Amino acid sequence: MSNNRKFGTMTEENSLGQHTDAVILVGGKGTRLRPLTLATPKPMLPTAGVPFLQHLLARIKAAGITHVVMGTSYKAEVFEDYFGNGADLGLEIEYVVEETALGTGGGIRNVYDRLRNDTVMVFNGDVLGGTDLSQVLHTHHSKDADLTMHLVRVADPRAFGCVPTDADGRVLEFLEKTEDPPTDQINAGIYVFKRELIETIPAGRPVSVERETFPRLLEDGLRVFGHVDQSYWRDMGTPNDFVRGSSDLVRGIAPSPVIAGRTGESLVDESAGVHDGALLLGGTVIGRGSEIGAGARLDATVVFDGVRIEPGVIIENSIIGAGVTIGANARISDCVIGDGARIGARCELKGGMRVWPGVEIPDNGVRFSPDA
Ligand code: GTP
Repeated sequence: MSNNRKFGTMTEENSLGQHTDAVILVGGKGTRLRPLTLATPKPMLPTAGVPFLQHLLARIKAAGITHVVMGTSYKAEVFEDYFGNGADLGLEIEYVVEETALGTGGGIRNVYDRLRNDTVMVFNGDVLGGTDLSQVLHTHHSKDADLTMHLVRVADPRAFGCVPTDADGRVLEFLEKTEDPPTDQINAGIYVFKRELIETIPAGRPVSVERETFPRLLEDGLRVFGHVDQSYWRDMGTPNDFVRGSSDLVRGIAPSPVIAGRTGESLVDESAGVHDGALLLGGTVIGRGSEIGAGARLDATVVFDGVRIEPGVIIENSIIGAGVTIGANARISDCVIGDGARIGARCELKGGMRVWPGVEIPDNGVRFSPDA
């Protein structure tokens, strides 16, 4: 494993974490991020210089949690190949593989035998968050909750299911997306369970924790609380969110112990080559061994490893997969370019186009009229 560092030191604040297991759900297929996720599972996509998951692992470690169980399914081997037993990160990581995907609830149930502590903090593996994990644990214990959910207040909750709470923080109900939500609190994808509850999730079949398990716990009268805050939060599920999350990490808007102290307008791997006059803006990331030609302008763009960008190229809000070549003076906006693709000189790609891995577009191959 390369590029890993040890993070965090134990403090009084994270003593709760020492008695907590972390479970990370990383088994999803990441279909909304295709074609990038055809080769690499979403939580392993490079984000601000490291696999996305590494930012979460660093935050888990900083909260004092050391035992981590990953619930894997899609491309399960990729996680263990990279992180191994976690020792390089100061963690102890175990992997549990679902032969067929069991959904979020089934994935949590499936790791039950590996749990060691009575408190279990479960994470969706594709959320970029900034909440103080120790505070979420503190809420859980101070309320003597059976389940505590991290709820984040967002400016526009209409795109999410929302979760109203009473004055004491107790969850009242789980609501589907609506045009007129009664609260701005949404499920942020971190749950603290009492371990015994996890055993009550049905084993061996797909279960959605959001649709099946949580409503049942409320119906059964269990103590379900929300830990509400306004911390940084982004679900990295779509190309647009992935680009924005990566850019927020680079610019220090999204906190991560992995890149603390190295934030700025761009993050360039030391093995990459950026030629004179190239402009890297808006939290752009340049991966290992990539070459950026003179006069290129990249804004809020994620460039994976081994990419060649020729002079005069302009790219914004896009993800450029590993080993891609982009010919001189091409223009790319709001696109995803799959690994190994070749985009010819002077091509113009925009508006959510996705180029599949290995596809070759000849010089002048895709153009839009100036007012299109
Ligand atoms: P899309 O296909 O683009 O919706 O992405 P996804 O498959 O990752 O689904 P979603 O974003 O809803 O998943 C939320 C989190 O749960 C992600 O971290 C997934 O990796 C994880 N997840 C989803 N389904 C499963 C599953 O069946 N098993 C496990 N272990 N994790 C899952």
